[in-house]
Formats: sequence, C-alpha cells, structure tokens
Amino acid sequence: MSDSAPARVRVGTVYTGRQEDKNITFSRVWAMPNAWTFKIGPIASLLRRYVPEGGENWIDPYAGYNSPAYYTNDLDPASPAKEHMHALDFAAMLKKSSSRFSGILYDPPYSFRQISEHYKALGRKATALDTSIAFYERAKSAFCDLIQPGGVAISFGWNSNGFGKRRGFEIVEIMLVAHGGSKNDTVVVVERKVIHSDQPAGI
Ligand SMILES: C[S@@+](CC[C@H](N)C(=O)[O-])C[C@H]1O[C@@H](n2cnc3c(N)ncnc32)[C@H](O)[C@@H]1O
Repeated sequence: MSDSAPARVRVGTVYTGRQEDKNITFSRVWAMPNAWTFKIGPIASLLRRYVPEGGENWIDPYAGYNSPAYYTNDLDPASPAKEHMHALDFAAMLKKSSSRFSGILYDPPYSFRQISEHYKALGRKATALDTSIAFYERAKSAFCDLIQPGGVAISFGWNSNGFGKRRGFEIVEIMLVAHGGSKNDTVVVVERKVIHSDQPAGI
C-alpha cells in the first residue's frame, strides 16, 4: 500500500441525518497483529500521511517503542520515550508550558486486562480507577485542550469513539485493520479539532 491513500477508500455514509457524520474516509485492510501498533504496515503508512517527518509539535503519551511523534512519554522506563511518567502527569507537565500541539497519537492499552498486565510488568498495582473507563476518559479530557484548533488526534483501540465531538473533534478518517481468526480489529480513528482550545471540554 502506498503512503498517499488507503488502497480502497469509501466515503462513509452514516445515516444519522447529521451533516457532521458524513464525509468520513473509511477503509478496511488486513495485516498481521503486533503488540507494537505502529509496526503494523497499514498503520505505519497512515501515520506517514499525517505526522510530519521528525514528528514536530506532535505528542504521544503512550509512546511504546515506535512513535513518530517528537514529544514522547511512556510509563515503562525501558521505552525510548523522552519522558517516563503516568500519562496524566505528562499532560499536566505539557499544560504548564502553555504550548499547543499540532497532533496527538493516542495508543493506550486497549482493555482493563491489558492495563493490569502493563502495570504488573512494571511492578505497579493498577487501582480501581486505572481499570475503569476513567483511565481513558480522564486522559482524553486532559489532552484535548493541548491540541490547537485544526490539529489532529489519531486514536487506536477496539472502538471508534476517538476524542469525540464534545471535546471538539470531528472524525475525518477511520481505518479498520483486521487481523483474522478470533483477533479483534485494530480501529484507527483520525479526528480534527474544530473548536478553539479555550472552549470548555465536555467528557
Ligand atoms: C499499545 S502500547 C503503545 C505501543 C506504541 N504505539 C508502539 O507502537 O510502540 C501502550 C503503551 O502504554 C504504556 N502505558 C500503560 N499505561 C500507561 C500510563 N498510565 N501512562 C503512560 N504510559 C502507559 C505501556 O507501557 C505501553 O507501552
């Protein structure tokens, strides 16, 4: 697949009757699964279409080992990320600098079980808050205000929720990466921020 566009693209027609749900570029591809999301071929290609060389002004709070973003963080001290703190602490640190960013890569563990496994591997005990929807919601609310209007959020997981309209984001592209067998698809959601960053964020 080339970097310029997914092989087969359809314009999504979501029959809610709401204008903002239309014109979503939709694609479905097959690729081998990989715990390191950004090593998956079609995902690496998609990232090259959105993230500039060097990842200038992009942030990645769950960077793992393969992030193209410039400002990277991962709780795991073995990761080559620049910072090694809880994602919420990373958001608080960036907030203090008053900088606003061009984009965010949001690739946290995809389930409560994965969160527990990551924490266990790092010798940390996951709290009830860590293994609840709050893990995702608190991070999205902390990071959404850090993205400048017109900026991009690319989310990865097993659903297409992304950051959402109430945080000021509009979906521009969805890519389903099927892995076959009983494996879940990896769902990639690309959103653009359409409000001013000082507008209060919803949940
Ligand atoms: C799905 S992996 C990211 C993979 C990465 N995108 C790649 O392709 O290399 C999720 C990452 O989140 C990190 N992580 C888990 N909980 C975290 C937290 N509370 N704050 C920051 N990083 C966390 C894990 O160490 C893991 O590297």
